Amino acid sequence: MTYQSLRPLPLTALADRWGAPPAHFWLRGTRPERPVTLDEQTGIWHVNGYPEVVEVFSDPVTYSSDTVRQLAPDAPDYEKNGLLTQMDPPGHRRLRQLVGRAFTPRLVAGLAPRISALTHELLDRADERGALELVDDLAHPLPVTVIAELLGVPASDRPLFRQWSEEIFPREQGPTAVDAAGDGGSGGGGDIGVDEVAAALDLGRRMNEYFTEHADDRRRHPREDLLTLLVQAEVDGERLSPAALGNFAQLLLIAGHVTTTMLLGNTVLCLDTHPEYGDAVRRDPAGLPAVIEESLRLLTPFQVFYRATTREVELGGQRVPAGRALALWVGAANRDERVFFGPDDFRPGRDPNPHLAFGRGIHFCLGAPLARLEGRIALGILLDRYPDLRTDPDNPPVLMGNPELTGARELPLLTAGRPGRAAA
Ligand code: HEM
Repeated sequence: MTYQSLRPLPLTALADRWGAPPAHFWLRGTRPERPVTLDEQTGIWHVNGYPEVVEVFSDPVTYSSDTVRQLAPDAPDYEKNGLLTQMDPPGHRRLRQLVGRAFTPRLVAGLAPRISALTHELLDRADERGALELVDDLAHPLPVTVIAELLGVPASDRPLFRQWSEEIFPREQGPTAVDAAGDGGSGGGGDIGVDEVAAALDLGRRMNEYFTEHADDRRRHPREDLLTLLVQAEVDGERLSPAALGNFAQLLLIAGHVTTTMLLGNTVLCLDTHPEYGDAVRRDPAGLPAVIEESLRLLTPFQVFYRATTREVELGGQRVPAGRALALWVGAANRDERVFFGPDDFRPGRDPNPHLAFGRGIHFCLGAPLARLEGRIALGILLDRYPDLRTDPDNPPVLMGNPELTGARELPLLTAGRPGRAAA
């Protein structure tokens, strides 16, 4: 049986063929036995149910994002001030307010013409070459260039940014605690050893040095960019410390492109298995946002977020002691049949579609409007330029082997239709 003859099977049937991580049972249409389970080997509580994940996201007092301080107070000291995702109130509120002043909806909306021009430029290059590999040609360079230009760091440093993101999210998956247990009943993340911690600290230092240098330059020579705004932003007369600024800039750079790369590829994969929706969007682009939201639900780009309990709690019928790590498997929650009818089906018509791909509560993704804008513009242009866009039966997609990310690492596409320029 050829790959092509499998179409249009549901995406669940393709998870193995595309090399999805074995522990991601939800990608294969399997339901967890319980919404909350303890992995005895690692001591991590895996949260797979939608109401349970929402409960954790919504209560930052009981479920701390500052997992290092909660779980390993003796861990080597590192400067994480500025890493919004690992902060609790009230520090989180102050920093979020401060960066919110710089990262405004107006600033994001103003990026539309640039995103459109960049998309055409990147696709023109692929057309000249006569081949389209979506990740290398568009899904990675577009968001990384947009966020680099926004921050005001040279987009020509793109290979460096790619190297960093690959150090953070290695392409291949290591053995996970869940694989070892063989139960398949919970999510799964690799054990973190001393070497990994040292490597992460080293990478953090290198990234921080890079941004500190650029921020120092903006203090002396302000420019029209986000780094300058961050250098100047104040809340209650307080400015970001240089270390916090460096940390925040690296968070923006990484969070600002890796997930959007996944989103672009995943939406193309969804449309590849359901070409009728691609045709519908070509006829009426107003349907594209719903297609993107459903792709975010079904193939959630970032799978897991961590919290630590600050007190004993009852969650999903389980008693979780204080000081324990919780892994929130957002992709599994997004397929909870208590909330989503036909959870494994791609149904852009869902209304409402309260997926958790961008999180919930005080840490709700700061970049969601930018990610959605990039998705709408880039995918709109892609569908318009290539009326017969599809995966290559002889060269099937390869998914990331990394347990934290769901998305294509290689996505060769056939563009049988004659490429034409879409309206910007
Ligand atoms: C499809 C693309 C994206 C997805 C799926 C995504 C997902 C998420 C999620 C789930 C969170 C919450 C983390 C938590 O609760 O611990 C988050 C936070 C965050 N995201 Fe995104 N993100 C995306 C794109 C972006 C972009 C484009 C940017 C920046 C330009 C960005 C910047 C951030 C930041 C700064 C936070 C931390 C917010 C806070 O802790 O208050 N993200 N993202």
